[in-house]
Amino acid sequence: MNSTKDNINETTIEAKRIPILKTFRNLPRLLDDPIGLISSQFEKYGDTYKSYVGLEEIYLSQDADFVQYFMQKGHRNYQKTRFTRTLGDVIGRGLLTSEGDYWRQQRRLIQPGFHKKKLEDLSNIITEDIIDFSLNLEHNIDVFGSADLMKLMMRLTIKVVLNSLFSNSISDKYIDRFDEIITVLQHYIVAKVRIPFSTQFFKLNGKDKKMQALINEIDEIVYSIISERKNNQGNFDDLLDMLLQARYEDTGEGMTDQQLRDESMIMLLAGHETSANALTWAFYLLHQHPEIAEKVLAEIQNVVGNRLPTFEDLRGLTYTKQVIQESMRLFPPAWITDREALVEHQMMGYKIKKGQVVTVFVYGLHRNPVYWKRPNDFMPERFAPELIKERHPFSYMPFGGGPRLCIGNNFAYMEMQLALAILLPKFKFEVIANEAPKLEGLITLRPEGGLPVKVSLR
Ligand code: HEM
Repeated sequence: MNSTKDNINETTIEAKRIPILKTFRNLPRLLDDPIGLISSQFEKYGDTYKSYVGLEEIYLSQDADFVQYFMQKGHRNYQKTRFTRTLGDVIGRGLLTSEGDYWRQQRRLIQPGFHKKKLEDLSNIITEDIIDFSLNLEHNIDVFGSADLMKLMMRLTIKVVLNSLFSNSISDKYIDRFDEIITVLQHYIVAKVRIPFSTQFFKLNGKDKKMQALINEIDEIVYSIISERKNNQGNFDDLLDMLLQARYEDTGEGMTDQQLRDESMIMLLAGHETSANALTWAFYLLHQHPEIAEKVLAEIQNVVGNRLPTFEDLRGLTYTKQVIQESMRLFPPAWITDREALVEHQMMGYKIKKGQVVTVFVYGLHRNPVYWKRPNDFMPERFAPELIKERHPFSYMPFGGGPRLCIGNNFAYMEMQLALAILLPKFKFEVIANEAPKLEGLITLRPEGGLPVKVSLR
């Protein structure tokens, strides 16, 4: 691939750069409080600056024009980074971790599975799961008198995504096991990327072997579900059904078992912790803002009343959706995203070298005063449709942007609206600590150490 047209007639802009020695000195703070450190650097160096990871010079940006160019117009100049490749090596090549023609072919194949009609079918599974979760929580309320809301939401969203994929084929005992294994694998992947010489080290100390055993445990279950399903003519209306029915345009063939496994695993991973985080932050913010919680409750009562919410109700739950959107603005689960340049090129005047990493600081973009008035305040009204239209399209991107936009975004909104509509009228989650939770940016943005809450019936 050659450099892009962006090179023509563009003057070069030199972004400010943090000196390499300073980045080494900042390392302890970067590990302890990456979000605080990066935010302070944007204040000092401007909305697009350069820094170092080790000896590699990278770009960071929270400028919506730059981000739009990078994610949308100039996306062909980039591929995903080492982190995603490591994720792919461990979990498999699914939509999130594949590239180029193979990614395009899979995206075209899978996209129809997330269209409105399909989501409507899935809404029944999701509602059932939330009801189940709610009954369980109610029965265990004494035990859960205080609980970690993050853990509770993880338990809910893994159930939702597993059942949306495999319609109740996995018993509750195995759902817990999946949850455990995925958490361990995520830590392993982060360590593999962050710790120097981890490739050799993890081979020698037996960690790779242990992790492979965990993957084999999951694989055994997933492959047996795929094989059972192939021998069963029933109508399941779940995501696996959609993956099994999908046919490549040119050959008319379906996916192999390995592809079905890889795509399922990626959806499990991509759709589990992200939604759990978003829900945790939404409940946290509603607890901090009782007047807004009252407004949401009034909307739910008005649209749903005392019955169960349906797919059609979602359109009426507009303020509830705005609360979710605003929660993800303040606390975007995918708080950072990056790519690596495939070729040397110039983008918006900035010279990008081949192999250079460009990072979007989504957390900072979502609080950038250039696009947001009172950026640190929780104001769901800003997501009224007429106000959304007035804003820069890339000032808000909890689901990414351009061709690699999250395929599960409407699924996630549906899941979160249903969760609020069912759980908020029934439970109070009172945040126990007085101080704001410390932010932990592992893979997704979570409250460090979880979010302890007192659970009670409303
Ligand atoms: C609040 C919940 C969610 C958030 C915040 C979220 C966020 C994201 C983001 C930011 C990306 C783009 C990553 C990049 O550009 O590198 C992405 C991609 C993806 N997400 Fe989500 N996601 C959520 C829920 C889901 C769910 C529920 C599913 C599936 C059921 C899902 C499946 C995927 C897949 C397969 C991709 C890769 C798409 C591609 O590259 O073609 N996500 N997500």
